[in-house]
Amino acid sequence: MTTKMHQNNNRVVLTAPLDGNPRPEDFKTISEPIPEPGEGEMLIRHIYLSLDPYQRSMIAGRHGAAGPLGEGEMPGGEIVGQVVQSRHSDFTDGEYVRHFGGWQEYSLSDGTQTFAVDPEQAPLSTYVGVLGMPGLTAYASMIELADVQAGQTVLVSAAHGPVGSMVGQIAMRKGARAIGIAGSDEKCRLVVDELGFSACINYKDGHYPGSLEDALPDGADIYHDNVGGDMLAEALSVLKNYGTVILCGLISQYNDPSQAVGLSLASVILKRAVLKGLVVYDFEDRRQEFFDMMAPWIKDGTIKYLEDRVDGLEHAGSQFTRLMSGQNVGKALVVIGHESL
Ligand SMILES: NC(=O)c1ccc[n+]([C@@H]2O[C@H](COP(=O)([O-])OP(=O)(O)OC[C@H]3O[C@@H](n4cnc5c(N)ncnc54)[C@H](OP(=O)(O)O)[C@@H]3O)[C@@H](O)[C@H]2O)c1
Repeated sequence: MTTKMHQNNNRVVLTAPLDGNPRPEDFKTISEPIPEPGEGEMLIRHIYLSLDPYQRSMIAGRHGAAGPLGEGEMPGGEIVGQVVQSRHSDFTDGEYVRHFGGWQEYSLSDGTQTFAVDPEQAPLSTYVGVLGMPGLTAYASMIELADVQAGQTVLVSAAHGPVGSMVGQIAMRKGARAIGIAGSDEKCRLVVDELGFSACINYKDGHYPGSLEDALPDGADIYHDNVGGDMLAEALSVLKNYGTVILCGLISQYNDPSQAVGLSLASVILKRAVLKGLVVYDFEDRRQEFFDMMAPWIKDGTIKYLEDRVDGLEHAGSQFTRLMSGQNVGKALVVIGHESL
C-alpha cells in the first residue's frame, strides 16, 4: 500500500504558549509535505488521535523531560493508525498500529513507541482508550494497588471517562459495588444506565457534598481520585476508617497548578487512610495481561465504554478545550481518517 490520501500532512500547532485554560484559538492547522520514510522507518496514516489530560501538563513542560511548547510547536499524543509505507522489517503495509504520533495526519516511525494492534480483537479506537493507557491505569488501581475485593464499595470521580469507567467496571467484575461522581445529570445517567454503576452523584447539582453522604451511608472502602483538590477532600469524608485512596489524577489543577488546594492531613489521620500514588508507566509489563483479560469483554459488550468523538484534525484544539473544561462525556478522541482506505 503506497497510495497516500493527501498531498500534504496537516498538523495542529500552538498559536502561542498556553496560559491557563486552553481555548480553540490557541491552536491552528498548518500544512507540510508528507515525509518520506527512510531505511528502517515507516509512514503511518493517523486514524484516531487520543486526547488525554496529561497532554495539558506536557504542553506546559510539566510532564516528561521536554520543556514547555511554544508558538508553532505540535502537542504530542498517542494515535491509532495504519502503516501506509513500510521500510521497517517488523511492520508491513496495511498493518494497524498504536503510536506516539502527535496531533497530525501522518507521522514517521522507526519502530520506537509503535505497537501492532488488531481490529479483530477489539475496536481500533479502544487501543488508546479503555484498552489502552487509561484502561491499564484503572487495572493497576483496582487489581494491583487497591486489591479490590467482593463486597467492597468503590467510589470514583470522573466516572464517565476512560479511567473512571474502567475503575468502576473492573471493581464490579470483582464483585464490588461502584459509585461514581460526575459533573452533570446526563453524565450520571450514562454512568448508571450504560456502565452499570450502582449510583452516580452529580457534584454540580447544588446538593453536593451532602449527596455524597446520602449515597454512601456506610462509606466507601476505596476512593479512586481522578480530580484532586476539593473533590479529594470531600471524598475522604465518606471513606471508611482504614480505607484506601488511590491518587491517580489532579485534573482540577492541570490548567493552573497555582490553584492547588492542600489536603487536610488531619482527615487522613482521622480516617486511618492508606494513600497510594499511581503512575501507569510502572505497570507497562502488565499491559498484555490486562489486554487479554479485557479485550474479549469489550468485544462482546460485557464491559461498556463511552467515547466523545469529533471529526477532523482541525477540531483537535476545540476538542482539547472541551476535555480540559470538563465538557467531554467519555474518552476524548479526534477522528482523523477512515479505518480502511
Ligand atoms: N496517574 C496516572 O498514571 C494516570 C494515568 C492516566 C490518567 N490519569 C489521570 O486520570 C484522570 C482521568 O483521566 P481520563 O483520561 O479518564 O480523562 P477524563 O475522565 O475524560 O477527564 C476529563 C474529566 O475530568 C473531570 N473533571 C473534574 N474536575 C475537572 C476540572 N476542574 N476541569 C476539567 N475536568 C474536570 C470532568 O468530568 P466531570 O464533569 O464528570 O467531573 C472531565 O470530563 C486525569 O486526572 C488524568 O490525568 C492518571
